[in-house]
Amino acid sequence: MITTDVALAAQQLNSCRVVAIPTETVYGLAALVSCPDAIQRVYTIKNRPTDHPLIVHLSPNASPEDWGIFNQHARTLAATCWPGPLTLLVPRTSRVPNSVTGGRESVAIRVPAHRVTQNLLNQLNDAIVAPSANTFGHVSPTNAQHVADDLGVNVDLILDGGSCDVGIESTIVDCTVDPPQIVRPGAITAQQIETLLSIDLDEVQGPSRAPGMLASHYAPTVPIILTQSIKDAEQLVSNFSATKHRYKLINFDDLTVYAARLYKELRDAEDTCDGIVAVLPPAEGLGVAICDRLTKAAAPK
Ligand code: TXA
Ligand code: MG
Repeated sequence: MITTDVALAAQQLNSCRVVAIPTETVYGLAALVSCPDAIQRVYTIKNRPTDHPLIVHLSPNASPEDWGIFNQHARTLAATCWPGPLTLLVPRTSRVPNSVTGGRESVAIRVPAHRVTQNLLNQLNDAIVAPSANTFGHVSPTNAQHVADDLGVNVDLILDGGSCDVGIESTIVDCTVDPPQIVRPGAITAQQIETLLSIDLDEVQGPSRAPGMLASHYAPTVPIILTQSIKDAEQLVSNFSATKHRYKLINFDDLTVYAARLYKELRDAEDTCDGIVAVLPPAEGLGVAICDRLTKAAAPK
């Protein structure tokens, strides 16, 4: 059931039910940290491998240092970017159960900027975990209907907070290493982080530390082809059309709009088209995260 009733969603979460919630990035599938059975159901509903740990989401009124051990870099990022689309990987405190981190000694923490979810978090007995509310490997949901389409009756309640403003998942910064490393790019860009911390970030070397950063991810059910230019994209769409194949062209010049619309465009194309041709934006600023998601969406499954 889709609802806008925040008190009902809070009551359900406090009773150890699983509720889909809006955030400024994408919709999450939430369970209370202190409800191990509900956390287990989150994995089952998503069909997610159990070695992919979950992000702890906190209210702006909570004390992040109850959950993680923050060094100076982590403190600076938390103070300047929260609430917002940034997740920090820090060593965990004893308050974080193994069910959340898959036994890891680090925990991922984020304070979402969405008003509805902040209101919800303030009515809960504990923090929540919330992975993106999609089946494993599929495109993340950016509105309540996407969650219903993907997870249907398996989820107890969907709290509708409208369309997500940012549209792609939070930037994840690993603060357990020095200098910190970006393990998933997002709307908080590498340049912003370098400026805030007065450091140069290393390129992530080798396999990423965040489990779940697989080559194929965020994938629509129809094929997706990437091009470097709008001209190439138009040519491809027209070639496909000549053979009676309907391919959708995805391109936005404004990167904020591109990120906000990307997942909805991918999902809409699944219902209406034979495939997708998407133009890669310049890999700078927010363009880095958009290119990352498009490349993973287009990777062989
Ligand atoms: O924007 C977001 O971050 C959304 C919204 C709902 O908040 N959430 C989200 O969660 O994208 P999820 O579970 O789809 O992606 C979180 C990523 C996963 O790749 C997971 O493996 C990684 O973060 N992660 C979580 N906890 C971790 C930990 N303790 N150590 C390493 N990686 C971790
Ligand atoms: Mg996800």
